[in-house]
Amino acid sequence: MRRRAWTPPLSVWGGIHPDSGSSEDIDAALVWNHPLDDLARFPRLRLVMSLGAGVDHVMAFRHLVPDGVVLTRIVDPAMTAQMTCWCLMVMLDHLRRMEDYRRLHRERRYEELEVPLPRDVTVGILGLGVLGGDCARVIGGMGYQVMGWSRSPRHIDGVTCQSGLEALERFLAPCDVVICLLPLTRETEGILNARTMSWMKKGAFLINAARGGHVVEEDLVRAIDDGRLAGAALDVQRQEPMPDDHPFWYHPKILTFPHIAALTVPETSAPQIAENCRRLHTGEPFINIVDLDRGY
Ligand code: NAP
Ligand code: GLV
Repeated sequence: MRRRAWTPPLSVWGGIHPDSGSSEDIDAALVWNHPLDDLARFPRLRLVMSLGAGVDHVMAFRHLVPDGVVLTRIVDPAMTAQMTCWCLMVMLDHLRRMEDYRRLHRERRYEELEVPLPRDVTVGILGLGVLGGDCARVIGGMGYQVMGWSRSPRHIDGVTCQSGLEALERFLAPCDVVICLLPLTRETEGILNARTMSWMKKGAFLINAARGGHVVEEDLVRAIDDGRLAGAALDVQRQEPMPDDHPFWYHPKILTFPHIAALTVPETSAPQIAENCRRLHTGEPFINIVDLDRGY
């Protein structure tokens, strides 16, 4: 956005980089997967706003974010609702055996399949923030046993919460379904690997809606092929889109999606971006600030 003398109501002058006008005028930048090298060119930059909920794409280049610049992210109920719906969709698809029923339908076979009752299924959610917290509440409200894992202790009614790396093995062991909604940070990179998958219950189903970097992909394929895990639904992958020869494309027990679980909705996200632009000029504290030291 280009800087202008502040005259309410909010008027923001902007441009799409590199046509963003004089670098002296810029005090805020909206970014997604853009190269961040040019941020240093804006001497008045004070605010970088991620166009998504995650900020790993910025944190990976934190050294390019000038000192003193604040980073914000999107926190939007419209995004949260999409995420919870997506997690529910793939969880129920697995638990209620939709693939088998589709096959039976095509074969014109009228057969009842055995499926577990919600109260007999334990769903573990890695990350109990904006997205994981909502998912935990909704899935718990449907009668499933829900467990949640976070960095610091959390309390959510009806959810068995655990925290810290030392609790991870204990946390994963009883889960029939594991849903990853962690931010990608130094601590969580590759957190779903051969070792942690070996802690999971035999036959557990993995759902990753966070970032591809959370999963060691070859370990996942091996865990499924060995029969430890039942399968996986993955909205995100390490390389997006995956190359043609990626094993996930060909695995019968892996279903991938093109990073669509929860999209940024322009209509509902724009107001918080405008609000932070307003605060930039009034000096009020920003909303949805990312803790740069924590990395999320
Ligand atoms: P958030 O509100 O910041 O919550 C993050 C949660 O993860 C918190 O509960 C946090 O613990 C926990 N956590 C962080 N580091 C941890 C660690 N080392 N060990 C244990 N727990 C840890 O984030 P959010 O808004 O829910 O979003 C989560 C992620 O979803 C985003 O970062 C993004 O990567 C992903 N996402 C994906 C899509 C998609 O379409 N696929 C869309 C939006 C977002 P504390 O509670 O202790 O802080
Ligand atoms: C999407 O992945 C987001 O982080 O908003």
